[in-house]
Amino acid sequence: MPKVSDVPNLGKAVVDALQRGAPDIDLNDLPILQDMSADRLTENVIAINSNTPDQRQKFVLEQLVKHVHAFAKEVNLTTEEWMAGIKFLTATGQMCTDIRQEFILLSDIFGLSALVDTINHPKPEGATEATVLGPFFVEDAKTIQIGEAIASDGKGEHMLVKGRVTDLQGKPVARCLIETWETDEEGYYDTQYGEFEMDCRGRLYTDDDGNYSFRCVKPVPYPIPNDGPVGKLLRSMDRHVFRPSHLHMMFQKEGMEELITSLYFENDIFLTSDAVFGVKSSLVTDPKLIEDEAVAKSHGFKNGPYWHLDRDFVLITTEESKAQIAKEREERAKEVSA
Ligand SMILES: [Fe+2]
Repeated sequence: MPKVSDVPNLGKAVVDALQRGAPDIDLNDLPILQDMSADRLTENVIAINSNTPDQRQKFVLEQLVKHVHAFAKEVNLTTEEWMAGIKFLTATGQMCTDIRQEFILLSDIFGLSALVDTINHPKPEGATEATVLGPFFVEDAKTIQIGEAIASDGKGEHMLVKGRVTDLQGKPVARCLIETWETDEEGYYDTQYGEFEMDCRGRLYTDDDGNYSFRCVKPVPYPIPNDGPVGKLLRSMDRHVFRPSHLHMMFQKEGMEELITSLYFENDIFLTSDAVFGVKSSLVTDPKLIEDEAVAKSHGFKNGPYWHLDRDFVLITTEESKAQIAKEREERAKEVSA
């Protein structure tokens, strides 16, 4: 059999399509599909996809087809349900703009974003766990000195965050860049206001002994965007749309694996029902309320009380990170084949 364009007496539609860039496949290279019974359908789709040159793409698509077909069979997907799903995904796409990513939100509320993050940033015992970056990180935040504030004065409840950044052996990570960002006392990020004025975010460097400290406001819970199809879906499942209060922190130092994480706070009402599954118990902290005015002032606050949070972070090297990813991949492969 020849290439498609070698076939005699092609209709105009086929010729036009080839001229417009439709692939001119050598028909000899294609697997021959079997009868399209429900039993054979999955293997037929996998067979016709089997010429995919990129081996990783081929593997991922093969697994996707297998799982999607198995899903349809397992739930006995009705035509109406299939159409409802198509309509939902269409609406999700139509909700997306340059600043609104409804598909990522969909991935978030089913835990897929958190899962992909965990698969790609596994940490060995003793290292600080990672969690999702979220949509509110901004480049070029103001650089502050150790002990200074990332939040403008007079807002919310004061909080001091201090500690040390080390490697797995406990050696300090000196001059490590820390980026941190949080909601203000109302639960909004600075980017969510009509006029963008940077606040409640900043960057600082650890000292030679790995120490850092900064002042901020105690963050509060906030809703994920819920005026679109994903919000409607959550309502239909009797789920809420809130994230527990958290402080985002990101650590960068040459030779070390970048750490993107967040700190959460004990007793937060949404701690055990985070709409996007970002909470890891090792990241839950318990800041202490310090009411002594003199101590508050000694840390640079105009007045007390303030929340005091001591928190160390343990980074891993890029080599340790690669080894951990390889180890966990192997373990998952064993689980899948078992
Ligand atoms: Fe956040």
